[in-house]
Amino acid sequence: MSDNNANKDDIKIKSKQVTIYIDDVAHQVNPDNNLLAGVLSEKINLPYFCWHPSMGSVGACRQCAVTQFQDEDDTRGRMVMSCMTPVTEGMRIGLNDKSSEKFREQVIGAMMTNHPHDCPVCAEGGECHLQDMTVMTGHTIRQYQGSKRTFTNQYLGELVGHEMNRCITCYRCVRFYKDYAGGDDFGVYGSANHVYFGRQSDGELESEFSGNLVEVCPTGVFTNKLFSAHYSRKWDLQSAPSICAHCSIGCNTSIGERYGSVRRVVNRFNHDINGYFLCDRGRFGIGFVNSDKRIRQTKGIEFKGVQLTNLDLAKSLVHFRGQTFIGIGSERASLEANFYLKQLVGSSHFSAGLSNKEMALAAQHQKLIQNYQAPSLAKIEQSDLVIIIGEDITQTSPRMALSVRQALRNKSVELASAMGIPSWQDAAVRTIGGEQLSPLFSINSMTTKLDGVSKQCLILSPDTILHCLSVFNEMLMHSINGKGINLTNDGLLAEEHLVFVKSLVRALLAAKNPLIVTGWSLQSAQLFEQINQCMTTLHSEAFCAHNQDANKVNLAVLPRECNSTGLLSMIDKKTLSIDDILETLAKGFVNNATKNKIDGIVLLEQELGSLTESQTKTLRAHTKTLIVLDHSQSRISELADIVLPVAAVSEGNGHYVNYQGIVQQYYQVHPPVLPIQDSWRWLDSLANCIFSPNKTNQENVHHHSLKELNDYLNHEFEDWPINSQNIDQSNGEANKGIARQTHRASGRTAQMANISVHESKTTQSTFDDFNFSMEGLANSSSTTDEMPFTWAPGWNSNQSINQYQNEVGGTLLNGAEQLRLSINANETLMDKWSVSPADLDQINTSEELREGTINEKKNQSNTFIFVNQTSWHHGDWQTRTVPEFTQLHQTNTISLSEKYLDEQGWQEGQYLALSFELADDVISTLAIVTLVENMPKGLAFAQVFELTARQTNLNLIVTLPSQASITQHQEKELARLNQAKIDKVNVLQQLKINDQCIPIRLVAGGLDDV
Ligand code: SF4
Ligand code: SF4
Ligand code: FES
Repeated sequence: MSDNNANKDDIKIKSKQVTIYIDDVAHQVNPDNNLLAGVLSEKINLPYFCWHPSMGSVGACRQCAVTQFQDEDDTRGRMVMSCMTPVTEGMRIGLNDKSSEKFREQVIGAMMTNHPHDCPVCAEGGECHLQDMTVMTGHTIRQYQGSKRTFTNQYLGELVGHEMNRCITCYRCVRFYKDYAGGDDFGVYGSANHVYFGRQSDGELESEFSGNLVEVCPTGVFTNKLFSAHYSRKWDLQSAPSICAHCSIGCNTSIGERYGSVRRVVNRFNHDINGYFLCDRGRFGIGFVNSDKRIRQTKGIEFKGVQLTNLDLAKSLVHFRGQTFIGIGSERASLEANFYLKQLVGSSHFSAGLSNKEMALAAQHQKLIQNYQAPSLAKIEQSDLVIIIGEDITQTSPRMALSVRQALRNKSVELASAMGIPSWQDAAVRTIGGEQLSPLFSINSMTTKLDGVSKQCLILSPDTILHCLSVFNEMLMHSINGKGINLTNDGLLAEEHLVFVKSLVRALLAAKNPLIVTGWSLQSAQLFEQINQCMTTLHSEAFCAHNQDANKVNLAVLPRECNSTGLLSMIDKKTLSIDDILETLAKGFVNNATKNKIDGIVLLEQELGSLTESQTKTLRAHTKTLIVLDHSQSRISELADIVLPVAAVSEGNGHYVNYQGIVQQYYQVHPPVLPIQDSWRWLDSLANCIFSPNKTNQENVHHHSLKELNDYLNHEFEDWPINSQNIDQSNGEANKGIARQTHRASGRTAQMANISVHESKTTQSTFDDFNFSMEGLANSSSTTDEMPFTWAPGWNSNQSINQYQNEVGGTLLNGAEQLRLSINANETLMDKWSVSPADLDQINTSEELREGTINEKKNQSNTFIFVNQTSWHHGDWQTRTVPEFTQLHQTNTISLSEKYLDEQGWQEGQYLALSFELADDVISTLAIVTLVENMPKGLAFAQVFELTARQTNLNLIVTLPSQASITQHQEKELARLNQAKIDKVNVLQQLKINDQCIPIRLVAGGLDDV
């Protein structure tokens, strides 16, 4: 583990300071930001609405008025909007003077004339910025007696609710949705006192960031529907800091529970990673924890009492003692659980659950991450050139796409800066920048939502992308060697591709802060090797000498899941691939020399998404004992002999490692109902019952807490990367100082308040620093980066985070140093899996690569190279169990080239029959066709419900379906949507029943702690 310098990325640290006088008291503030930010950074209360630390100022609400005085002798001053006023040395302002105070009160009074004052029934109640600001300004009596303006609300989909009457016209929503996140199905309509924020007509919000409206809106216009459906308020929740479990970005979240079930996820500010925003997968995907697909009981373990105990488990497992098991880890299990499993089964019996193809990818990824430290999202936002290769980040890692959008605005910021306009003057910067953006080049096998803001984008088959990169690299070397960029077209690149490559080289040579983004989506190890070669050129002395003023090119490689990078760090030359395992099972032993028999497989949170149905059956048929540890049902858990139900992210403790290698801890929000427990607790049992001969310590192991587990791993295994001293857990001691609940808890919203305001007590965990009550501080005195929720005196909304930042929008006060995992490819890179430069020469560079001729022969028989474009709501296996997300996948779609459709005489919008060839299986379904211009005829990409995210780069055959099969398919899709609706209702009903009868345990340390 190496210390990370991520905090040094922070450009907002108080570097420059000037002195200003606020109500005659001198303060040091940053002149690069506006006056409002300066005042708030000094922790002085000043009300505001339209300004947002990430979105800057537009001066729309007039709430932040202060009086600015010319000098000490000026007693009248003039009123200014602090969010629109730059900070200057020696400036004098008054917050407490009568005129600005009165003005602020009147502004809010005017806003409240039409507000319905429906706080008791508003989901925002108790965490409403409007409530806080109303109190702050002293507007206590409503004088307006007239009738109020009312609006009709819209249906905005299953995730976000709409109550327009609460609007105070601050424009934050539309500025976030359209300007910041690039959505185009939301706007502002009307005029004067009838300004409406919503869609042109009812319908699902299309942006994958729609949930941020709930946090961005300072009042209760936009609400989290999933949270509102199961009535609760912020003060009812017991919260804990967590990490999003839905992709490799590692956004920091705060999860709130009530009566033992998860109620919602909100953003937890992390300056370097997610800042103020989450994507909708991270916010609403938590529904998988409450899903009816959860595994709640063991299978294949006998017990006689009321509750399974460790003794029962030992009796059931003892006859496996000493047998040989293969352990398959997972990209979504914690670092602890994966490492522990690997130690138990031994390196030569451990698999990361990856196919041969994916192992080659992993080997290349190790090399890239070792050589090029991935930038944080904060750093990505400083880029002046972005190149995206083979990854649709808008769907796989949406939060990064949001950062890339901000990076593209750097051109406007630069133009405005040249005219003396600071970056926080949002409206002015946008006006000056107009359509001008910093360049984004995208070379992909599908269309993406960033195409519209790219300077140039190409849609090519994976092989052609490789060839373009090879030409790009060659051209780059020519240019830094002074030979210019005019290569003779070798005839293998179409003219437009060559133009693209040339523009890319020119842009790179001109950029000061370039960034390349790629990922696992195309599953091409050759692509990673090609990028490695380009990066070698871009980091070469010759290139750096050529571009002396520029920073070195950054590279971000995106793996698939929340702990893919953690698992990557464990892959070594002995690690088995899934193909190895299938082969091994067929012959019955792993090691050819010892001929050790394989008695079974332990699958840790692993659904084996890349296996076909018949491969799964083969695996089952050849495995004597299949032990599955998972939180939700999968086809693998259904085939297992023994199933052990494990904790989901909100129910357990552990660490995930994000795409940069940053190790982040997630905390138990609510102890699960036994026998559900952390994977590592089950592994304790397996260690004692099955694997004891492998243990260095023959004593039974039983770890009560994550800290105890880390102490053990630290002590027993040299290569355990986390120093257990860094685990922030009290280890059962009375060291609790942080409240999980806000002190507004009152009991008046108790579930059965009509009978008693006594709130049922939730099971308590004793192994962390957080109290299951409102007793304690809102944060630890030593650090603010693991706050369960944000609250500060006078600030009940999420904007209270201002009070915990060094400077508004900057790093957190006393933030702990982030830890970065060292991934050393030299030790672990396997000869078996590596792609050598020579392998790249094997790539098809024949004439077929040329535009329009690729795969021409196959194309004649309607066969395509197929690339799977997974959607954000079905991007990971866990989110597939969320009914609201299933409802979002209305129908399968397939994208084909316009040219091909013309030739066939097929129309956009009609159904086509698809047959995907996967190893020894065929998956057939139907999809509605959409046409794409300028796309190779032999390429197809699609969003298909029947495929998992891992099934890509396949052969696809497309034919015309019969009317009967279309009807059948439509019925199937309708049934799926109806089933999702039923599932949603059932989950809610079950949760309401559970609310009435919470199983009580005093502590939550495992099976025997009842
Ligand atoms: S809906 Fe909310 S965010 Fe949008 S303008 Fe109204 S109050 Fe502001
Ligand atoms: S899914 Fe990824 S981008 Fe979205 S909130 Fe989670 S970690 Fe962040
Ligand atoms: S916050 Fe300054 S005008 Fe709105």
